[in-house]
Amino acid sequence: MSAQREDAVRRLTAPDIAARKGGDAVVCLTAYTAPVAEILDDVCDLLLVGDSVGMVLHGLPNTVGVTLEMMILHGQAVMRTSRKAMVVVDMPFGSYEGAKETAYANAVRILKETGCQAVKVESGPTIPETIAYLVRRGVPVMGHVGLRPQAVNVDGAFRAKGRTEDERARVVAEAEATADAGAFCVVVEGVAEALAREITQAIDVPTIGIGASAGCDGQILVTDDMLGLFDWTPKFVRRYADLRGEIGRAARAYADDVRARRFPAAAETYFAKLKV
Ligand code: KIV
Repeated sequence: MSAQREDAVRRLTAPDIAARKGGDAVVCLTAYTAPVAEILDDVCDLLLVGDSVGMVLHGLPNTVGVTLEMMILHGQAVMRTSRKAMVVVDMPFGSYEGAKETAYANAVRILKETGCQAVKVESGPTIPETIAYLVRRGVPVMGHVGLRPQAVNVDGAFRAKGRTEDERARVVAEAEATADAGAFCVVVEGVAEALAREITQAIDVPTIGIGASAGCDGQILVTDDMLGLFDWTPKFVRRYADLRGEIGRAARAYADDVRARRFPAAAETYFAKLKV
């Protein structure tokens, strides 16, 4: 085995993230491509190759159509340019809800073919058993409770969770079962602040909120939402940039230059050198 290079940067691991419970906030963003992962790596503790890639980059109406191959391809891109952040890849709809053995085979493919350190699953009632099966066999798992985008066809729409007492109790129980099964942290999506705080107190691994208030141990946003790439963003997103506007302005300036024959100019042109 070759000696560890001295300048090698150690990636954060599942135990590092789990140890942040109640400590420094865990900073997470989604990443799907090599250049964006390279930029985010320095500032994030955890990069999630979310199945939101289907909606954000591929124009799908929801995440149900996302495939294992898509997740592996984007996971590979993110791993190539990130060095420090922990990288987690989402298991897509249909790849883990059936037999535990199938979930394990698919999770192993993701870990082996991308080099990422963990997978994420949406933790419906039957999933904690699968999480325990994966963790016991060496696959770190991030859970996901509350609004579960992959359940959109059952729920009928993307709806916040915990509006009734029954539903609140169900979400807390799912979060507890997910943590008890061995998940190293749990995404909590689309719940009111009181419920987010209750879940955060109830489990002993970090909660990572999205639309779930400051009552969580960490936060995650879809990067493209926070960069302002879409003309609509949900209430819980803060826009830190207006890339949609910037891209539109740049494209219009380029088109104007091409039409006016200002681009390319001499500085952007190769000239043949004469041999003497
Ligand atoms: O797919 C995704 O990007 C996610 C996050 C929004 C948590 O699951």
